[in-house]
Amino acid sequence: MAEHSGSAPVHVVILAAGKGTRMRSTLPKVLQPLAGRPMIRHLLACVQQLQPAQIHMVHGHGSEPLQAELAEQKIAWVLQPEQRGTGHALACAMPGIPDHASVLVLMADHPLVPLELLQSMLAAPHQLVLVSMQLTDPAGYGRIVRDDQGEFAAIVEQADASPQQLAISEVNSGIYRFPAAPLRDWLQQLAADNAAGEHYLTDVLAMAVAASQPPQLMQWPDAQSLLGANTQQQLATLERHYQRQQAELLQQQGVHLADPQRLDIRGRVSVGTDVSIDVNVILSGDCRLGDGVSIGPGCVLHDCHIGAKTRVLAHSVLEDVHCGAACSIGPFAHCRPGTRLDDAVKIGNFVETKQVSIGARSKASHLSYLGDANLGQRVNIGAGTITCNYDGVSKHVTSIADDVFIGSDTQLVAPVSIGPGAFIGAGSTITRDAPAAQLTLSRSAQKTIAGWQPPRPEPDHDTAAGQPGSKSSPQTQKEQD
Ligand code: UD1
Ligand code: CA
Repeated sequence: MAEHSGSAPVHVVILAAGKGTRMRSTLPKVLQPLAGRPMIRHLLACVQQLQPAQIHMVHGHGSEPLQAELAEQKIAWVLQPEQRGTGHALACAMPGIPDHASVLVLMADHPLVPLELLQSMLAAPHQLVLVSMQLTDPAGYGRIVRDDQGEFAAIVEQADASPQQLAISEVNSGIYRFPAAPLRDWLQQLAADNAAGEHYLTDVLAMAVAASQPPQLMQWPDAQSLLGANTQQQLATLERHYQRQQAELLQQQGVHLADPQRLDIRGRVSVGTDVSIDVNVILSGDCRLGDGVSIGPGCVLHDCHIGAKTRVLAHSVLEDVHCGAACSIGPFAHCRPGTRLDDAVKIGNFVETKQVSIGARSKASHLSYLGDANLGQRVNIGAGTITCNYDGVSKHVTSIADDVFIGSDTQLVAPVSIGPGAFIGAGSTITRDAPAAQLTLSRSAQKTIAGWQPPRPEPDHDTAAGQPGSKSSPQTQKEQD
């Protein structure tokens, strides 16, 4: 457990019981995705780094999916049976918090709260800290009302604010640190005498002032990270902010981004030197890009390890791909899970791969499907080659040894093996193993039909014969082999 100011144990309370009506979605608000993950996961990942004595999650609306999503997390779940306001929600968590604790209260719909802010709140000498922010558009937030001396007086919610108060641009971020003992008392005194008919947590702050324990107001330079998401529009604003931060982090590591506004990171990315990423790329899961890797426009990579100097060309979609150095993938390649490429492999346009390992310097340059297959080194896969891996029930493996040449438009009906150095003639359907270093082909012999006539239209009684569009006459040709 981390030590903070004083020796008070830190208890984090996340308020997540609200319905999130303003999202207009069947998905609970805190499970709405931000950068590909439910927004609550961002906040949780942050507070876990504080190593608090306990994280209390107040839940109520949408409990089931929320608890299912966070099943593996160490959380003290607190049910708020009825959503009677943020003050009531926090009061529900208090029985699990000792009097000498320092209570860090967070709203679950503020997913990007910076760790450094929480750390400085806990390091502050003051036990009661409130984070405020200046917004050009304060709509929807509680306004910070100050007295004539400029000292904090109260928080007034939008619905209860006078026109004068509505003009205040300093707002409540919803992030607080409280000493547990007085907080417990104040919460018990809350009344629902306001526009919403709810127990407002914010009223506790005026009580603190009345008890001569005014909060320390803390501001944070990066106000964008403190914003909440009540609506889809606000969530999209947070998403863009998050993405800008991710792009900047990559740029700080030397990545060349064609346009930092047109890259989306939905996971973790690690990069070598001289990586370049073109526009409209999505990187998700765990992606590692080696030195000199370039990713073309419109590519989507999920859980990929891309070796040094590999080029992923435009509009390629890669999932669970591990590739060596100096490969070329795409344009328009679809590499599905289990694709393992050794060095200098080429996967060209309209090639689909799945559960396949391909040896160094092998090529599948055009229009192929390679699934459940093992390819050796220097293999050449002709255009239109298909591994027929599925018999309707089971998947079967195709093995292709080193230095094999597969002619275009070949079907390899698995299970089947092609020996080292074998040649397969174009247009073959290979159903049995092909021996090493020989030409194997299966092709019906070519035939030409002598005296063949193109179809003729039937004579039309009304107009001249031979007009296009009339029925063709029966054919009387003779086949010649
Ligand atoms: C709240 C603050 C407002 C602040 C803003 C910051 C109050 C009364 N107002 O307003 O001053 O500027 O956050 O975003 O606190 N929740 C519960 N149980 C409830 C009600 C809410 O758990 O009964 C949870 C919600 O799930 C949400 C959080 O508390 O995660 C905040 O509730 P919300 O309704 O979004 O409050 P705001 O109107 O945004
Ligand atoms: Ca809110």
